Amino acid sequence: MSISKHGNVLVVGSINMDVVTPIKKLPLPGQTIMAGDVQLIPGGKGANAAVAAARLGGNVRMIGAVGDDAFGHTLKTNLINEGIDCDRVPVINGISSGTAVILLDEDSGQNAIMVSPGANAKVTASDDKKVYAWADVLMMQLETPVQTNIDAARHARNAGVTVILDPAPACEDLPEELFAVSDILLPNETELATLTGMDVTSIPEIMAASQSLLKHGSKHIIVTLGPRGALWVTDNHNQLFPATPVKAVDTTAAGDSFAGALAANLAQGKTIADSVPFALAAGSLACTRLGAQPSVPTTEQVLTFMQQHQA
Ligand code: RIB
Repeated sequence: MSISKHGNVLVVGSINMDVVTPIKKLPLPGQTIMAGDVQLIPGGKGANAAVAAARLGGNVRMIGAVGDDAFGHTLKTNLINEGIDCDRVPVINGISSGTAVILLDEDSGQNAIMVSPGANAKVTASDDKKVYAWADVLMMQLETPVQTNIDAARHARNAGVTVILDPAPACEDLPEELFAVSDILLPNETELATLTGMDVTSIPEIMAASQSLLKHGSKHIIVTLGPRGALWVTDNHNQLFPATPVKAVDTTAAGDSFAGALAANLAQGKTIADSVPFALAAGSLACTRLGAQPSVPTTEQVLTFMQQHQA
């Protein structure tokens, strides 16, 4: 797929403050464990993808919301400082900002995340046609209301905008229409399993599950596979892209960096085949650093990483 555009990415999505808690091992039910020093780090799947798209070549506008609390003002200011247009990110009175508690396994860099949506639950799609006409790509996730995503995607589709949905966090009972209005789905393996109810261990199983998901109306599925890379599946094409192995410090926002990088590249008219290796490199680099938004790399860092790891 190739689109000739201007690099404009519209993100509809969540904005969270991440309460990052380093631990040695996930606690069992009823167990108390000691943790390392807690850090407050800007996150949220939507905001992370927006920061990635902005640092990786996109012009970014965000539709989201924060609460009228200390987190909210900090989070919105951070996004503005990244050059992201936040005119459609209201500060809502009487509600908390989105907050995510992240348990970070210090040895593996893997995490467990609990999200309290707060103001994210109040996000509505703008019906200003100009904002969709401006965009080349609409990027969405599932930490804002599903109906908001459907409304935004309908407006975007009417304006000829490519719609990307990262179905995270995934759930089993998503409305059919959400898939029908999304051109490209970006599940990871776990999300693909949740969406299809199928086994997704081997690559042939992942291909089969992706084919089954395509039947709901999207044209492209790009499954992110962690260290195994990414698999692009359409009706008549399968392509596996390898990832460069890295020592993971914290995998938080690796998927969001991939998504933002992909959105920025597609919005500039690049093809999926050309964009996925760049997006994989962005995701790999994000794994080598602590936190969500601080871990998102710049274009220069991604290109250097790709040069250093050329086969
Ligand atoms: O994808 C990582 C993000 O998920 C974190 O930043 C957290 O806020 C949750 O939204």
